Amino acid sequence: MVPDTSSKLREYEKNGHSADATLINWSPETLRKILASELPGAQVIVVSNREPYIHNLKDDGDVELVVPASGLVSALEPITRACAGTWIAYGGGSADRQTVDQNDRMEVPPDRPSYTLRRVWLSEEEQQGYYLGFANEGLWPLCHIAFTRPIFRASDWKAYEAVNRKFADTVVAEARNERPIVLVQDYHFALLPRMIRERLPEAIVITFWHIPWPNSEVFSICPWREQILDGLLGSSIIGFHTQFHCNNFTESVDRFLESRIEREDAAISYGGQTSLVHAYPISIEWPPTQLENLPSVVECRDHIRARFGLDEDVKLCVGVERLDYTKGILDRFEALEELFTHHPEWIGRVVVLQIAAPSRGTLPAYQQLYEDCLQRAEDLNQRFGSEGYKPVLMVAEHHTQEQVYEIYRAADVCLVTSLHDGMNLVAKEFVAARDDEQGVLLLSTFAGAARELLEALIVNPYDATMMSDMLLQAITMSPDEQRRRMASLRDIVRDNNVYRWAGSMLLDAARLRKRGAIDRATANVDYQPPSASGNIVSIVDRKRAS
Ligand code: F6P
Repeated sequence: MVPDTSSKLREYEKNGHSADATLINWSPETLRKILASELPGAQVIVVSNREPYIHNLKDDGDVELVVPASGLVSALEPITRACAGTWIAYGGGSADRQTVDQNDRMEVPPDRPSYTLRRVWLSEEEQQGYYLGFANEGLWPLCHIAFTRPIFRASDWKAYEAVNRKFADTVVAEARNERPIVLVQDYHFALLPRMIRERLPEAIVITFWHIPWPNSEVFSICPWREQILDGLLGSSIIGFHTQFHCNNFTESVDRFLESRIEREDAAISYGGQTSLVHAYPISIEWPPTQLENLPSVVECRDHIRARFGLDEDVKLCVGVERLDYTKGILDRFEALEELFTHHPEWIGRVVVLQIAAPSRGTLPAYQQLYEDCLQRAEDLNQRFGSEGYKPVLMVAEHHTQEQVYEIYRAADVCLVTSLHDGMNLVAKEFVAARDDEQGVLLLSTFAGAARELLEALIVNPYDATMMSDMLLQAITMSPDEQRRRMASLRDIVRDNNVYRWAGSMLLDAARLRKRGAIDRATANVDYQPPSASGNIVSIVDRKRAS
């Protein structure tokens, strides 16, 4: 039971974003109430490239279930569960086809079904051009300041368009009526919002861009920049993690499209339709399900120390991520080297455990990173290691969420040193895992999470000296200071959990839908079904009418 939620929600709705959303206790129940009271009967459809459950065929013929290492999946999964929605995603597992019904659907989570997963099949060529090519060799390096050159190929763009179209067909096929709420996820689907808008003009399309948006000069590199902006502006709402990225996006639209920017309303009018551009910082569920089955911190600590053969007095610093060049893995190795060089008394007493889930491994940039990481770890181990002691433990393997949480609970320090990151949910997961209020978070100032998690030790990953100083501060921090910082971090993540992220977007969607309905009712003319260019009465038009 959520105390007094309805009146708080009304207040929130009345005042738009300004009502104090922190007064609301954001939970799955809050989301269900928002849907029931503000968007009655609305079907929620989530679209992402990565699916939340992958079925793979093992060598012995058994089918194994994998939950991918993805911030997007860990954030969207509790939301889709709460909304009993439909999640449309690429079926990339080797046993995916044999686990769906005749409509390519299955009920998930497998152990307690609460929503529908609809798989979309892609050919090798489609996957190569759309996912590896355009999305991950083009848009990914374009949007991240990591100094990796984006590669744009016309054939990849064609595949990207075709796959976006395929997903649009699937959204239309899965929609139970004309007015679903479609949550489009990430840079794999920049064209999809417009395609949905053309086919389902009454739909509310909320697009969330999980990675940074570059400044307009960088964005101008993309040969299909206008098409990408046009595609995204098919959305009713476009969300980013930070205001900074909203501003970059708005600036790109201003520069490349004939549009009207309504800065006060955080809205863009383009082609007769208005899209809101808002910051919604993504988060994790609270309390995390993963903690339900985990033993105490002491037990996790003992288990992980035994697994990796660590002495009791060794400080364990962990990094957990996909093996990606944006994550600053080599830079944290650099900081460790600095620490050992200037504080040799710590040699033998600090270990960096790097968990790196293999990712996009067929791309040259990722292969190179893997080799560089192995090489650098080997160098450091040669130089500073000894019998029974390796300062860097590189584990390039997929870990389940539970295994990851066990590692968080065992750690003295968590290293999140991204060169650039939309949000970075590892930082929030680490905080959520530490119900003992111990452990230190070292967090890059270039991760969106640094805007919220101010009690972390904030670092510049390009500055190895500063990072090693902070590392020293982290491993020598008193339990009292750790408690004070961690308690405050936990309050922030608890209050700004993923239900608030989704709830804020749904409330904004409800406002749009209501305003559209009110405008139609007060216009006192026969309502014409909206044209292909949109269903939302623009804020500019409303102002003019009043
Ligand atoms: O950071 C953007 C993102 O889409 C995340 O949401 C997700 O964690 C990651 O990239 C997934 O990468 P991939 O699906 O390519 O393995």
